[in-house]
Amino acid sequence: MSKTIALIQGASRGVGLQFCRTLLARESLVHVIATCRSPDTASDLLALKNNQNVSDRLNILQVNVENESHIKVAAELVEDQYGRVDLLVNCSGILHPSGRGETSLKDVTLEGLQNTCSINAFGPLLMGKHFGKLLMKGSGSFGVQSENSKEQHNGILINISAKVGSITDNGLGGWYSYRLSKSALNMATKNLSIELGRGKNKVICVSLHPGTVDTDLSRPYHKNVKTLFSTEESVSKLLNVIDSLSLNDSGKFYTYDRQLLPF
Ligand SMILES: NC(=O)c1ccc[n+]([C@@H]2O[C@H](COP(=O)([O-])OP(=O)(O)OC[C@H]3O[C@@H](n4cnc5c(N)ncnc54)[C@H](OP(=O)(O)O)[C@@H]3O)[C@@H](O)[C@H]2O)c1
Repeated sequence: MSKTIALIQGASRGVGLQFCRTLLARESLVHVIATCRSPDTASDLLALKNNQNVSDRLNILQVNVENESHIKVAAELVEDQYGRVDLLVNCSGILHPSGRGETSLKDVTLEGLQNTCSINAFGPLLMGKHFGKLLMKGSGSFGVQSENSKEQHNGILINISAKVGSITDNGLGGWYSYRLSKSALNMATKNLSIELGRGKNKVICVSLHPGTVDTDLSRPYHKNVKTLFSTEESVSKLLNVIDSLSLNDSGKFYTYDRQLLPF
């Protein structure tokens, strides 16, 4: 069996960090490229890199998704070193620069909207732009291959979205910036699925809702949550979904337990 290449974007903390830990632990042939905006201060990621069992399978690169040149340089480095990407997971996200979603229109600011959409939607789309051709060279080792060779895929691109980005499901309002950003991210997933699914080499593109997860992002709201997943629980469920994906799923939006969510 040959090695598989997974790239986790937004890997310094929370769900992204856990993707790195779980992927490195589950199989000795998985190589993880972990990107984060400040590699020198990403202490948990650096601690993982210091673990002798995984250090030669973990490569940390700088990507602030608000800086397109970081994304371009990272894609060039990955192309030189690995030649392809089998799985890309976009995890970067903020609720709002203030740390709390807007409760009403009076809280909405242009800066809050721009910052949230930039990190949650525009950055992941630009990752698709620069890493698309590397995903098209993916080995197809993640997900389930169809028996029909015309329906087989190469790489998989996952955008970690949120159920609150579903327009159909929005019964409460509020959280303007976050909801807008995740709806936009879902549109990016759909568009990417079309463009990266056209040619001979196809990429599965899917949005996933991780559940409410015990991380810094959701911390202000934990006391109202019925089911709060640990990062280990959420990522284990998300990887089960990823392992089950085929080309028929591309362009869709699923929960951690593989329920289809409406856009
Ligand atoms: N936690 C939940 O309940 C929940 C629910 C639904 C969806 N989600 C989604 O899950 C994803 C992961 O969130 P989380 O819960 O793990 O939150 P988190 O612990 O706060 O982690 C957020 C990550 O995003 C990174 N990030 C922020 N700005 C960035 C930028 N400009 N460039 C690159 N990376 C940047 C952070 O890096 P730094 O360390 O550099 O700040 C950090 O690694 C997000 O997309 C979030 O919307 C989470």
